[in-house]
Amino acid sequence: MLVINFKAYSKATGKEALKIAEKCASAAEEFRSELILAPQSHDLLRLDDTEATIYSQHLSSFSPGSHTGHPVAEGLEDAGAEGTLLNHSERRIPDREMLKTSIDRARKNEMEVILCAQSPEEVGELSKLKPDYIAFEPPELIGGDTAVSEAEPELIEKAYRQAEVPLLAGAGINDSDDVEKAVELGCEGVLVASGVIKSENIEESVKELMSGL
Ligand code: G3P
Repeated sequence: MLVINFKAYSKATGKEALKIAEKCASAAEEFRSELILAPQSHDLLRLDDTEATIYSQHLSSFSPGSHTGHPVAEGLEDAGAEGTLLNHSERRIPDREMLKTSIDRARKNEMEVILCAQSPEEVGELSKLKPDYIAFEPPELIGGDTAVSEAEPELIEKAYRQAEVPLLAGAGINDSDDVEKAVELGCEGVLVASGVIKSENIEESVKELMSGL
């Protein structure tokens, strides 16, 4: 599984988001692994016809009603999100009751959940909330050139032992070696952002990453 987080990069916003999504989907066609794209909420509908699984980057614990600035599950699902990232290092949900409610709201709308964790210990703790996947991403490596599978393989091994659901890894992953190492350490797949979104050749980057799965 390759999860590409568009984050709030200008290069992955609006019409550019659709161009990137189409390049990613086209590149992934020759591979069996699932491709998941996570654009910003306002671009979900734009990607609705893309040949990929579309996730939101966050989902509110609130139900529909008199709430401002809360991307509720019903709206995200209606806009085409089949799942959501939750508790990403850049959009943490420290309140565990709120996190549980967000997961419940996703489930109520038949959306998958990739729950993000910053340490092997948090992988163990959050696994118990039974997301579909748990993603281990050490925040200090996010956006950098050193992959988590290269810098901290022992932490991925520890996270794998703690995980009670399939494990994903992310942060600094840029090539097939980084992906292969993560898979060898027990990961079902990887999360990437800058390695694709900032690439000069998006198709080649997606093929490179997919070839490691
Ligand atoms: O959600 C994945 C993201 O946090 C990884 O970022 O730029 O290190 O691939 P990056």
